[in-house]
Amino acid sequence: MNQGKLAFDVLDLYVKYGPIVRIAPNELAFSEADAWKDIYGHRVGSAYGAEEMDKYHTFYRTKGEVLSISSGDREYHGRLRRQLAYGFSERALREQEDIIGSYVSLLVRRLHEHCVEPDRKDPVTGLAATAKLDMKKWYNWTTFDVIGDLVFGESFGNLERAKEDPWVEAINGSIRFLGIINGVKHMGLESLFMWLVKKTNTSRAEHDRRMMDKLHRRVALEKERPDLIEGLLKKREEWGLSMHHLQANSSSVLIAGSETTSSMLSGVTYLLLSNPETLKKVVEEVRTSFKSEDEITLTSVSRLTYMLACLNEALRSYPPVPFGMPRFVPKGGATVSGSYIPEDTVVAVWHWAAYHNPKHWTDPFAYRPERFLQDPKYANDRFDVLQPFSQGPRNCIGRHLAYAEMRLVLAKILWNFDMELVDEKVKWTDHLSYVLWDKPPLYVRLAPVAK
Ligand code: HEM
Repeated sequence: MNQGKLAFDVLDLYVKYGPIVRIAPNELAFSEADAWKDIYGHRVGSAYGAEEMDKYHTFYRTKGEVLSISSGDREYHGRLRRQLAYGFSERALREQEDIIGSYVSLLVRRLHEHCVEPDRKDPVTGLAATAKLDMKKWYNWTTFDVIGDLVFGESFGNLERAKEDPWVEAINGSIRFLGIINGVKHMGLESLFMWLVKKTNTSRAEHDRRMMDKLHRRVALEKERPDLIEGLLKKREEWGLSMHHLQANSSSVLIAGSETTSSMLSGVTYLLLSNPETLKKVVEEVRTSFKSEDEITLTSVSRLTYMLACLNEALRSYPPVPFGMPRFVPKGGATVSGSYIPEDTVVAVWHWAAYHNPKHWTDPFAYRPERFLQDPKYANDRFDVLQPFSQGPRNCIGRHLAYAEMRLVLAKILWNFDMELVDEKVKWTDHLSYVLWDKPPLYVRLAPVAK
């Protein structure tokens, strides 16, 4: 197996050996729809006294780190999740609309400012030449600024300065590190490795201190905020939550909510620009559904059915979490996808591989939003295999926010700009992944639409 290509290799294994494949001595990858319910669902293993399969600790936990909503065990997770739920609800989203909308408007403003190079003339038109923009960065800056505000009450200032905050840069640069740390943990060398990282990586302590400062400022706010962590702050004293607990959970939400949504926006942009017919249809839908840009809101974008199909097909073609999120089979074993699996086995459904398995999808490598719009050609597609936000008690709590943000950003960009890829020959989605995608730049030229 090749480094960084595991998500792709698992598909080859599914095609060669079938829907259950062994990818490590103690680890199985699944591909069928029923495996989602069996592995991640609520009542898995109840016959053996467990209500849900535990997360595989070697993968989720790092020695010496405080547990969070992502890494905590069932009881701790359940309490946190219930307390955070309101901040992630559709009702709370409406209260957060002004915050989210302000960053999306700032993104559009900045793109207008940066999409031409005033000092360089286009040799054909004689007008200012269009600039080559790395949309991966612009999307990343937006999603980090939005979540920064919804978690800490202040953004990272990426869009304001049109420059990447060093902390955001460090997170983006650490995706390859996720793969390394995962390998090291499996070899049992985690303590030594983490000691080396702490000794050699002085910027990490600086970043932790900055996060803590942000959190102190958020906690000190006297007025309630309709944001993502207000619910947790309300229980701070009753539950005796330390600043370290709050920091672990805010960082968890920040990382889970920024990189994923920005991957999706880069992915859907690339897929649309490399499929001109589809692009034409979605542009037409956006530009004929509103009379002016002010009408494009979190509520009104939900009417854009073709754009939603484009996003759902992008979630299948380029799922922001391409790997399988591992769970641990409880004592006594469990039945997964119709097979008995012994206790202590690590199990997962592998997103990218399951979403490209020709057993489940017609033309799995083609980008066809029509499959989500009852096109008879795709009548046999297994839509229940597609669970990009996972399933069950530990599914994505930020799903509504993610959809709202993706729809608003995409609609506003398609309304404001005509876009084209700088290099149409590069198959941008073919890059490596280490739990998350290790994305190269996505260079696009933007031309403001004449209004
Ligand atoms: C397209 C965007 C997104 C995708 C595809 C996505 C996907 C996922 C997946 C697959 C999981 C399960 C992880 C696991 O089993 O370990 C998850 C969990 C989670 N996501 Fe998302 N996510 C997205 C956006 C967001 C956003 C915007 C937020 C918050 C602002 C967020 C916050 C979380 C949190 C806190 C968890 C852990 C939930 C728990 O354990 O109860 N995600 N997400």
